[in-house]
Amino acid sequence: MNPLVELTGAGYAYEDGPEVLSGVDFGIAPGRALALLGRNGSGKTTLMRLLSGGLRPGSGELRLDGARVAYDRAGLTRLRTSVQLVVQDPDDQLFAASVAQDVSFGPMNLGLTTGEVRARVDAALDALDITSLRDRPTHLLSYGQRKRAAIAGAVAMAPRVLILDEPTAGLDPDGQERLLDALAGLRAAGTTVVMATHDVDLAVRWADDAAVLTPAGIRLGPAHTLLADPGLLAAAGLRAAWSPAVTSFLRARGLLSAHAPGPTTPQALAAWSDPAGGDGDGLAVVAPART
Ligand SMILES: Nc1ncnc2c1ncn2[C@@H]1O[C@H](COP(=O)(O)OP(=O)(O)OP(=O)(O)O)[C@@H](O)[C@H]1O
Ligand SMILES: [Mg+2]
Repeated sequence: MNPLVELTGAGYAYEDGPEVLSGVDFGIAPGRALALLGRNGSGKTTLMRLLSGGLRPGSGELRLDGARVAYDRAGLTRLRTSVQLVVQDPDDQLFAASVAQDVSFGPMNLGLTTGEVRARVDAALDALDITSLRDRPTHLLSYGQRKRAAIAGAVAMAPRVLILDEPTAGLDPDGQERLLDALAGLRAAGTTVVMATHDVDLAVRWADDAAVLTPAGIRLGPAHTLLADPGLLAAAGLRAAWSPAVTSFLRARGLLSAHAPGPTTPQALAAWSDPAGGDGDGLAVVAPART
């Protein structure tokens, strides 16, 4: 499928610095969940800022729906109504006094009517499950709440692609699950979601595709196969993921058929192994405990 937004032959260097990215051909396919991984300083944030128009490539170009993006007011507005970036630190994004004011800022700048802005804000707060925080001052929210408010601000722009820079960093396990639920809702409504993460387990579990930034370039492929490649993980400074290890263990012992997907969480494995709790999906045989 044609990429929604795409960098071709793109290079970027910060002022007085070496090239951080060079010759990058990288597109975001509509409808896919994409995880971006790579060691600290590998260029994930830079790549996301290039894709969302915050940075302009020094060489090559950015295309939206196949057309070269113009870095003027009209071109950037068109890009930002399609692609929204949520930065890692919510305090770099939130600035208005209350959550509702902050979330309404983007839609208001699009020149929508008051009713349309209100509907966008209501939907975004609902999608992130923070309707109860609507009138709260942003600076009094917890870190996890501020993260959700920042994401709601991007969601209110109704982007086709939502790009999240390390959205689960700093969230507790319940906060991570709630965020994943919110992203699942947005995906079901048709939003393409991209996230940078250092959490390989999360990427295997959540993403359709993974893009791994290595010194040799960006490797893109299905998350569950790409992130099971020990050489690639080592090149990118990433830990081995739990799910591929458990899946290959189960297959090697004949407990999982070759083509059945493996468990992506310990909870899924526990449900499978528990004859009362699991539905046994994909698990060919569970060896009874020997006494
Ligand atoms: N504003 C900036 N000015 C100068 N150099 C920068 C700037 N931002 C990033 N860099 C440099 O660009 C390179 C890529 O940084 P980037 O933030 O894109 O990496 P990253 O993969 O997001 O890392 P992390 O996992 O730590 O978030 C690094 O060497 C970094 O020092
Ligand atoms: Mg970064």
